[in-house]
Amino acid sequence: MKKLYLASKNQGKIEEYKKLLLDVNCELLLQPESMEVEENGITFRENAIKKAREVSKSMRNYAIADDSGICIDALDGKPGIYSSRYAENDKKRIERVLTELDGKENRSAFFIANICVCSPNGDVILESEAKCLGNIIFKPRGNSGFGYDPIFEELSSKLTFAEMNNDLKDLFSHRGQALKKIIPQLLKIFA
Ligand code: IMP
Repeated sequence: MKKLYLASKNQGKIEEYKKLLLDVNCELLLQPESMEVEENGITFRENAIKKAREVSKSMRNYAIADDSGICIDALDGKPGIYSSRYAENDKKRIERVLTELDGKENRSAFFIANICVCSPNGDVILESEAKCLGNIIFKPRGNSGFGYDPIFEELSSKLTFAEMNNDLKDLFSHRGQALKKIIPQLLKIFA
């Protein structure tokens, strides 16, 4: 069975990928805890490529990475690529967003994920991008998920990501949708 390294240390993402990749016949491994990839790109795509490329080259195996985040219209797209660095933990990041949105009427936002898969020599072999539209609510709702999930209300279901079970979040989420687009190719590569 071919190995596929997941270039992430984010526990929330790791759990989602374990489930999303269940049908792909690969041995899913995590990047070494000691390995740091500097996310100094200026786009989600650049950062996704950088993470997948560095991990694949260093592990000499296939690697998959996503760079993702939440972009809020009334904050000119912030936190965007800085989503994971907007404050020191999830609770403070949510507090900061809610404070910055205080008094603003427009609460529209979207989550975006750029996925990149690299071959064992570091070549980009697959890329995908997807967005999920919604609104930032005034007070967190729900206990599932991670990150900004409790304050992001998905547009059509009116549920926050944190109110969805795993299957529902995978159906709507930026990550679930971006991965779905490349599942056919992944099934072939890892046949
Ligand atoms: P990355 O690891 O640099 O791609 O950081 C992604 C950050 O965006 C995470 O640490 C979260 O703060 C946020 N994020 C991305 N996807 C999600 C999601 O599905 N739910 C909640 N927050 C997310």
